[in-house]
Amino acid sequence: MTTTVRSSSPFLSTFPGRYYYDPAIFQEEQEHIFGKMWFYVGRADALSSHGSYRVVTVASESIIVMRDKEGQLHAFFNVCRHRGARLCNQESGQLKGSIQCKYHAWTYALDGRLIGAPNVMSDEQFDRLAYGLLPVALHIWEGLIFLNLAENPQPFEAQLNDPRVQQFGDISPYDRYQIGRLKVGKSITYEVQANWKLIIENTLECYHCGPMHPELCELIPLYRTGKVFADEDFSAGVMLGEQVEAFTVTGKASRPPLPGLLPEDTRRYYGLLFLPNMFINLLSDHVVVDTFQPMGPERTVVISDWLFDPDVMARPDFDPSDAVDLLDLVNRQDWVVCELTQKSMASRAYRNGGNYAPDEHHIRGFVEYVLEKLRH
Ligand code: FES
Ligand SMILES: [Fe+2]
Repeated sequence: MTTTVRSSSPFLSTFPGRYYYDPAIFQEEQEHIFGKMWFYVGRADALSSHGSYRVVTVASESIIVMRDKEGQLHAFFNVCRHRGARLCNQESGQLKGSIQCKYHAWTYALDGRLIGAPNVMSDEQFDRLAYGLLPVALHIWEGLIFLNLAENPQPFEAQLNDPRVQQFGDISPYDRYQIGRLKVGKSITYEVQANWKLIIENTLECYHCGPMHPELCELIPLYRTGKVFADEDFSAGVMLGEQVEAFTVTGKASRPPLPGLLPEDTRRYYGLLFLPNMFINLLSDHVVVDTFQPMGPERTVVISDWLFDPDVMARPDFDPSDAVDLLDLVNRQDWVVCELTQKSMASRAYRNGGNYAPDEHHIRGFVEYVLEKLRH
């Protein structure tokens, strides 16, 4: 069934309006996209000690990610194997060697094994091994934790190297930025009242940059033209303006470049979007990793982590605010228009959707990708 309206004009169709608010479509996305793909949930170094844990939402499921006594990271469904009580109710915390369910006190080791079930005797033919917490596949890439809820997940690299997942090109040449070695200098969580696809679409285009991001356009003049990359060459990134030293609110450089970069990385910006939910901004003195977490048909949580060289962070005068304030401003400008757009999605006027102007044509590839995953 083809549900999109195709146009013969140079304007290509967006999704029809209901794709941005219908709970049934959101549910299908949970099942066919977020429940099957590797989903970025946060940095491994945020769980630094044994027993430290975070609770994350993936495809509407509550998942515990925690570090065991051997230092290994694990992910489990946050569901007691006895009668199903939710085990961890805080967003994050520190466990003392085990997880105990509040309800009947079944107790699990940090590696998920059931190690205690009160009043169940060893002669009662109860195979404790069969009642450990249900695991979720976990992969660490460049210090970033990815989870996959599928029973037989595709290899992580198969997803990462899929050209349709790498919307702006291949990440591998950029391992010189050593994202796993950098540390978080600032993290901001945004609650955005918009469907996750509006946020991805917005991230994919710079047609809005002139009207919406005057400060960003001061730093990257190309963005005034509505283009995302010069000459459609994704791998070349974009240059900062001639008088601009660094990607900061002042345009001045206040930190040395990250170690290991190439001369051409200086005063250059690379943006890399990986479906379904990660966007990486590479700058010469910092990196920003965004995660988009769809929480409902009209609600997405976005977490931005600003990463810096740990040696620079150790300096007494380290202050990340000139970098943070810039993309924080740009982010907030973006959320305003994503939320304004969300308000119209259920309008009769948008029943058949809208259109992508020539500078946005590449977004249609994302639309096709989602429709294919949903088998629509
Ligand atoms: S539901 Fe967890 S111990 Fe009973
Ligand atoms: Fe934007």
